[in-house]
Amino acid sequence: MSTATSEAARRRTFAVISHPDAGKSTMTEALALHASAITQAGAVHGKAGRRGVTSDWMEMERARGISITSAALRFDYRGHMFNLVDTPGHADFSEDTYRVLAAVDCAVMLLDAAKGMEPQTMKLFEVCRHRRIPVITFVNKWDRPGQEPLELLDEIEERTGLRPTPVTWPIGVAGNFHGVVDRMEGRAVRYTRTPGGATKALETELTPEQGAAELGADWTRAWEETDLLAAIGAEHDQKAFEAHESTPVLFGAALSNFGVARLLDVLVDLAPAPAPRPDVEGTVRPLDAPFSGLVFKVQANMDPAHRDRIAFVRVCSGRFERGMVLTHAATGRPFATKYAQSVFGQERATIDEAYPGDVVGLVNATALRPGDTLYEGKPVEFPPIPSFAPEHFAVARSRSTAKSKQFRRGIDQLDGEGVIQVLRSDLRGDQAPVLAAVGPMQFEVVQHRLATEFGAEIILDRLEYTLALRTDAESAEVLRRQRGAEVLSRSRDQALLAVFTDQWRMRSIQREHEGLTLEPLIAGRGI
Ligand code: G4P
Repeated sequence: MSTATSEAARRRTFAVISHPDAGKSTMTEALALHASAITQAGAVHGKAGRRGVTSDWMEMERARGISITSAALRFDYRGHMFNLVDTPGHADFSEDTYRVLAAVDCAVMLLDAAKGMEPQTMKLFEVCRHRRIPVITFVNKWDRPGQEPLELLDEIEERTGLRPTPVTWPIGVAGNFHGVVDRMEGRAVRYTRTPGGATKALETELTPEQGAAELGADWTRAWEETDLLAAIGAEHDQKAFEAHESTPVLFGAALSNFGVARLLDVLVDLAPAPAPRPDVEGTVRPLDAPFSGLVFKVQANMDPAHRDRIAFVRVCSGRFERGMVLTHAATGRPFATKYAQSVFGQERATIDEAYPGDVVGLVNATALRPGDTLYEGKPVEFPPIPSFAPEHFAVARSRSTAKSKQFRRGIDQLDGEGVIQVLRSDLRGDQAPVLAAVGPMQFEVVQHRLATEFGAEIILDRLEYTLALRTDAESAEVLRRQRGAEVLSRSRDQALLAVFTDQWRMRSIQREHEGLTLEPLIAGRGI
C-alpha cells in the first residue's frame, strides 16, 4: 500500500451539524479533550469571552457570540488522525455552511435531547443527504430533562428517512442519566461526572448484578427497551449506514463528557475513511495519485495585521508537502505553497505534510475560489461545489461616489471569496449590483467588511424577491417584461438567473407563458 493510501485509511474527516445551542462547541471541546489535542476543555473554541480575539472580524463574531469563520481542528485518537471541520453554527444561514460539507466524509448530527430535530439541523441534514454523507446521530444533554428515547428515534426516522440503529441506549430517562447499555459491545457502563467536566468522565463497567442492585427500575427498563430494539431489527448495518439509509445513534452529555469517548470510537470503527474522488468527468482519481485538493472555503483578512487570504483545501489524493508548487486548475497557473497552516479559530500551526482527508490552510491564496482544484502532475478538476439558491436580495450602492473604485474592488473580492453572490443587469448598471444571499446575515458581513477592509460604506436596499431560478436568453426576453420578476446575470459564471417575488408569482407567469426555461439552482429536496 502506498503511503497516501495507508495514511488516508487512518484519517477521519467529519463535521458536527446541529442547531445553535445544541452543544456543538461543547462537543468540539470534549472531543479534543478526549483526543488529547488540548489539556483543558474551553481552550479551543473562540466563543464569547473564552479567548482573546485580535481582529475586527473576530470582534464581530465575539459580539454575536457566534462562529462565522470555519476551519478544521486536527487531533490524534487511537492511531487515527481526525479532521473536525467546523460548520458555522449561528441561527442565520450562509453559503459557507453548505460548502464546508464538501470537505467531509461523515457528519455527526448533534441533537438536544429536549428539542430533537430542529430547523437548522434539518437544513444541514438536507445537504448531507444531497451529498450522500453518512450521518452518525448523537443525542446530547441527556443529563437534562428531555424526550423519551423511543420517541426521539421515531422523530429521527420520520424527519430524516434514516433508520436509527442505536449503538448505545441510555440507562435512566433524560435528566436522570446513569450510563448506557452498549448494544454493539454487549455491555453496560456507568458514567461518573468529574468536577467541572474539564477532565474525562469516569466510565465503569457494570455487571448485571451491580446494575440491578444499584439502578433498579432504570436498569430493567433500559434492557427491556434494548430487547425491543433487537426485536425490531435496529441493528447497525455498515452498508446501509454508508449508503445513507441508516444512522447509528449514541446518547450522552457533552458537557460532562458522557459518551464522548464512545463517539470517537464509533468514528474510528464505523465512519468512512477518505475515498478516491471522481473528477468532473467522473473518472476517479486514486488516493495514491499525485497531490490533488479541493478548495472548499476562502477567508480573507482573518488577521488584518497581515491582510492575508486563506484558502482551505481538502486533500483528495497524494501527499501534500509544504513548499511544493501546484497547478491551479481554473487558471493553469502555478501556485506555491510555502505558507501552509492548520487553522482553527485563532490557533494556527504550520503544516509540513498532509494526506487525503486533511485540511490545509493556504495563506496568500489570492487567486483561489471555493470549488477550485489544485493539483500536481496530471491535470485534474473536481466537480464545482454547487452554489445554493439565494432567498434574500438587496441592491448595494457606495455611500460616497468618491469611493466607487474601492466599492467595486471590494464587491469583486467578496464575490471571489464566495461570501455573497453578485448579480448584475444592464438596467441597474455597474454601480448598483444586486447581492443575493442564502441567509440575511451575509449582507451584514458584506457591509461590515466593505467598510472595514475597503473603506467603502454602503447603502443596502432590500428587494422583495425571495426566489431565484436559472433561465436562458430566450426566456429572459419574456421574463424581463413581467411584473414581480427580473433577470440578472451572476458575475461569477455569467449564469442567467430569474428572480421572483414568490412562488405564486413565478407559477402564474409560467402558466401564462408556456415553455419558459426555469430550472432550480440545485437539485435535492428542500435545498
Ligand atoms: P452551540 O455551540 O451548539 O451553540 O452550543 P454550546 O456548546 O455553546 O452549548 C449551548 C449551551 O448548552 C451551553 O450552555 C452549554 O454549556 C450547554 N450544554 C452543552 N452540552 C450540554 C450537555 O451535555 N448538558 C447540559 N446540561 N448542557 C449542555 P450556556 O449556559 O448557554 O453557555 P455557557 O455559558 O455554559 O457556555
